[in-house]
Amino acid sequence: TTTISPLIAGNWKMNGLRGSLDELASLAHMLISGENPRAIVVICPPATILSEVAQLGATAGIQAGGQDCHTQAQGAHTGDISASMLADAGAQYVIVGHSERRADHGETDDQVRAKAEAAIGAGLKPIICVGETEAQRDSGEAEAVVAAQLAASVPEAANFHDVIVAYEPIWAIGTGRTPTNEDIARMHGAIRQQLSARFPEQGPTMRILYGGSLKPQNAREILAVENVNGGLVGGASLLAKDFYTIISAV
Ligand code: G3P
Repeated sequence: TTTISPLIAGNWKMNGLRGSLDELASLAHMLISGENPRAIVVICPPATILSEVAQLGATAGIQAGGQDCHTQAQGAHTGDISASMLADAGAQYVIVGHSERRADHGETDDQVRAKAEAAIGAGLKPIICVGETEAQRDSGEAEAVVAAQLAASVPEAANFHDVIVAYEPIWAIGTGRTPTNEDIARMHGAIRQQLSARFPEQGPTMRILYGGSLKPQNAREILAVENVNGGLVGGASLLAKDFYTIISAV
């Protein structure tokens, strides 16, 4: 069996002013003074402080990522940010298709796939998010919904590039509720199967992250579930101490 190095990414969402760099400095300090973490550590801050996060993070091996990118490299798209701009600011990753963007901005699987392609084109590693709503889970459609999102959101280029998938059940985001370990294992297993069937080269070793109320108290058991290759952390990534505990749990 191939071992996949785990990755823990913090998604700060629309949180973080320049003052938050103090929290990042504490995290950097913990990482430097503690044992070397097994996980690759990524912070995805708001774009306004991305370059500071990339610079400060680099001192402790923390990598930076964007939270979204446009499908095009430049042009008349007021308010948008391209993948190459994120790369220029120091990002190595970018989250695409987060459920909050799918919901708030009506992003479709096709757009998400185009964003992932743009990210790859700019030399970034896309973190492609999928996940079902509570109603879909209750009606037994969770696996079918995720399978359809995955099929349509992950670009063909994934067979040759470092592409990351994040499974985030929407009802677990910011709610403190999580699926059972069995449910996580079943979904991640299904995702692995689909990726491996479609991408013979990369599928078996592509990282599949779990996201949704990952906390210091549940990180160790969730991150130990088969085919969970790390986590995408929202709320608990805002406090250095909590995020460090999650990083150290893998
Ligand atoms: O992208 C991470 C996220 O959606 C999970 O958020 O606050 O439940 O950890 P949270």
